Amino acid sequence: MDFTLKHALGSYTVHSAYGGLQEIGKYFKLDRRVLIVTDAGVPSEYARTAAAACKEPHIVTVPMGEESKSIETMKMLCEKMLAYGFTRKDAVIGIGGGVVGDLACFAASAYMRGIDFYNVPTTVLAAVDSSVGGKCGVNLAGVKNIVGAFYQPKGVLFDARLLRTLPKRQIAAGLAEAIKMAATFDESLFSLFETEEITENLYEQVIFRAASLKARIVEADEREGGIRKSLNFGHTYGHAIEAAGGMAQLLHGECVALGMLPFCSDAVYERLFGVLKRFSLPTALPFEARLALPYLSHDKKWGERGVDAVFCEAIGSFEIRTLTKDALLATIEGAQKRYR
Ligand SMILES: NC(=O)c1ccc[n+]([C@@H]2O[C@H](COP(=O)([O-])OP(=O)(O)OC[C@H]3O[C@@H](n4cnc5c(N)ncnc54)[C@H](O)[C@@H]3O)[C@@H](O)[C@H]2O)c1
Ligand SMILES: [Zn+2]
Repeated sequence: MDFTLKHALGSYTVHSAYGGLQEIGKYFKLDRRVLIVTDAGVPSEYARTAAAACKEPHIVTVPMGEESKSIETMKMLCEKMLAYGFTRKDAVIGIGGGVVGDLACFAASAYMRGIDFYNVPTTVLAAVDSSVGGKCGVNLAGVKNIVGAFYQPKGVLFDARLLRTLPKRQIAAGLAEAIKMAATFDESLFSLFETEEITENLYEQVIFRAASLKARIVEADEREGGIRKSLNFGHTYGHAIEAAGGMAQLLHGECVALGMLPFCSDAVYERLFGVLKRFSLPTALPFEARLALPYLSHDKKWGERGVDAVFCEAIGSFEIRTLTKDALLATIEGAQKRYR
């Protein structure tokens, strides 16, 4: 299964192939120097399998976790490329989740003003979200994604077989982003989440469909002027829950799941709640709803009139409402009983 994503400077293909990593040379041009970036939590055989298909592979394994999304690590990758004699004709592959993808893509975007980048997402979140759309970057001084670029890959390979080693909780958290896209754009995809038996095959299907949905949204709005804002469904409050989380240690996708619940109609809420339960995503806050409220103000998207929040009144659709802070607080507090 493939789909093509068009962007301002051209297009590229996202290949979804079960077991496709074994044949990576079929999808990407690898008869050159290739920097393969992965992290220590990703099974090392994935990078080694890719390396076997490259003419001159160099594997770099960074520590796992958000801390690796740093200027220092990005500098280290560029230094490696320089030391290995990388030219403009060479390439970078990221094999990992969103951390590896964002980091490796950013290094590729900057080295010699941009060399080819390929992405092999190995988490659900990376497959449905971070590997599509061309946003990359690193964190600085505790601020997430503050230094980065829009840089499109030359190709993406999603091999659902690689998810076999991913912890179930990570799978569910990534699916929350796919559920979000289905809720706001695609009722037939949403109903798969409601009815289909939960198997590896379902994962592959829904991930492919959600990624292509995101691609269509990004194509329509590459630099986030309009409908791309719909991707923020669940994120306004979700980010605050994430920031307030502290001891609770919720994953981003789990916070998105929780963040969607106040911003929908009763009918949507019932269906959404059912799907979240079905995929073992949280539906109850680990603290009182209002405890996350102070963190809302840290959201960088507050404009003069308030904040744009995405609502889902009917599955398959969305609307953006600009809310004052008071209206936003009322929405969240009013939805307290939805957390059960
Ligand atoms: N660029 C974008 O548009 C965009 C969009 C959303 C999120 N992001 C970024 O993505 C990052 C989060 O990505 P993530 O959720 O994939 O986290 P992650 O990259 O940290 O991966 C989660 C964990 O799973 C491990 N792992 C990855 N693949 C595995 C596999 N197949 N088997 C076993 N373990 C595996 C990793 O080592 C890591 O410990 C954040 O930094 C976020 O800012 C970017
Ligand atoms: Zn998200």
